[in-house]
Amino acid sequence: MEQKKLDVVLGLQWGDEGKGKVVDVLTPSYKIVARFQGGPNAGHSLVFDGDSFVLHTVPSGIFRDGTQNVIGNGVVIDPVVLMEEIGAIEKMVGPITEKLVISKRAHLILPTHRMLDAASEAAKGKSKIGSTLKGIGPTYMDKTGRNGLRVGDILSGEFQERYDALKKKHFGLLAQYDFKYDITEYEKQWMAAVEELKRFAFIDSEVFVNEALQQGTPILAEGAQGSLLDIDFGTYPFVTSSNTLTAGVCTGLGIAPSRVGNVYGIFKAYCTRVGSGPFPTELFDEDGDKLREIGHEYGATTGRPRRTGWLDMVALKYAVMMNGVTDLIMMKSDVLDGFDTIKVAVAYEEKGKTLTSFPYDGGANVTPVYKEFPGWKTPLSGLRRYEDFPEAFKEYMRFIERETGCRIKIVSVGPDRGATVVRY
Ligand code: GDP
Ligand code: IMO
Ligand code: MG
Repeated sequence: MEQKKLDVVLGLQWGDEGKGKVVDVLTPSYKIVARFQGGPNAGHSLVFDGDSFVLHTVPSGIFRDGTQNVIGNGVVIDPVVLMEEIGAIEKMVGPITEKLVISKRAHLILPTHRMLDAASEAAKGKSKIGSTLKGIGPTYMDKTGRNGLRVGDILSGEFQERYDALKKKHFGLLAQYDFKYDITEYEKQWMAAVEELKRFAFIDSEVFVNEALQQGTPILAEGAQGSLLDIDFGTYPFVTSSNTLTAGVCTGLGIAPSRVGNVYGIFKAYCTRVGSGPFPTELFDEDGDKLREIGHEYGATTGRPRRTGWLDMVALKYAVMMNGVTDLIMMKSDVLDGFDTIKVAVAYEEKGKTLTSFPYDGGANVTPVYKEFPGWKTPLSGLRRYEDFPEAFKEYMRFIERETGCRIKIVSVGPDRGATVVRY
């Protein structure tokens, strides 16, 4: 039997690569957009018609007509955040009840999960992960610990009972921390949001996605976070709690590995990271500040300033390998327009040794070895054809293609939907 395949969009760095924009740009070629992991820790920005919008749990295909959006089983959902988001979307485009379906198997973030996240981070002190404090870690812990509550449970007669039992368990855990909290108000909102959520179809999304695939429906899987935040292969323990790599598409949507088609790996023309953890090419100088200011590098979910640095080819090649990337998508090239010199890390040095593959500890103690490129000193944001790009920029792109062995399919030159150059 011929195996019809779906395509994947995911981030190759530490998140915030521009996945929201790319999914929105690609959606007209797809009939279904499905999120496969993460939760409200994500912030995916879309800019079109002079408006901008940040999505957290809802897939980034929601603003395009004729697209069905799926929240897959691998996603964790905070009903309050989700209903607020839905409210804001509906204010803009009208009801989306028909356009969004939710997996019965997706796990719920309880108010106490958020408290546990906050208590755990506070207790870690200096070694904190820099979590978004949305309850992600504790919810995935309850999933693998086989304690979790799922969307499908909302419709069972025992939902309140099971909620109370899990809450009680969490109160026991919270008692071990020196942490004050009060969930009364949030819990009220949470229960109300759970009720509101019932107007959406809770489905067996694995069956929905597989049947649609077999009928030849084009499907795009949307990742959250980035490859270097993957629970297994990221810069552990400074990671998120899900598999952000292509492998996560299989478990997060319930599709077989043989069903994965094109893997579009997104990266910024430089690097950013928000939260703690190793970042070999991080800049602490004027160049770093310039990247942050020109690139508006402030978190879409938390507003925190993002750490900034040069492109890291060691880390990028690792991410390309782990994801089986078929095509690259390069974002925010325009942010580098004004730089005289642009640097790229091509290796690391540690204790007199040269490393060319991404190390176990995420490069916590390495010094990057840089290759320098002359800047193009030309505004890219108005350009819409590859042929019009300045030669110095084309050289930067060719270098990345040679090093990774992947072609750059799309170049983004501004936040707007339209500021996009599709090469093939
Ligand atoms: P995501 O989490 O991967 O969806 O990325 P975010 O939305 O968190 O962060 C990307 C930011 O860069 C957003 O503010 C986007 O509007 C913006 N952006 C996306 N592509 C480009 C681009 O090519 N150039 C510039 N200057 N900004 C961009
Ligand atoms: P999008 O989808 C950037 C980071 C947090 C923290 C670590 C763990 O917008 O790219 P968590 O809340 O998951 O327990 O936080 O991961 N992080 C992100 N960084 N973009 C994201 O999502 C992120 N989601 C989580 O800052 O360092
Ligand atoms: Mg983001």
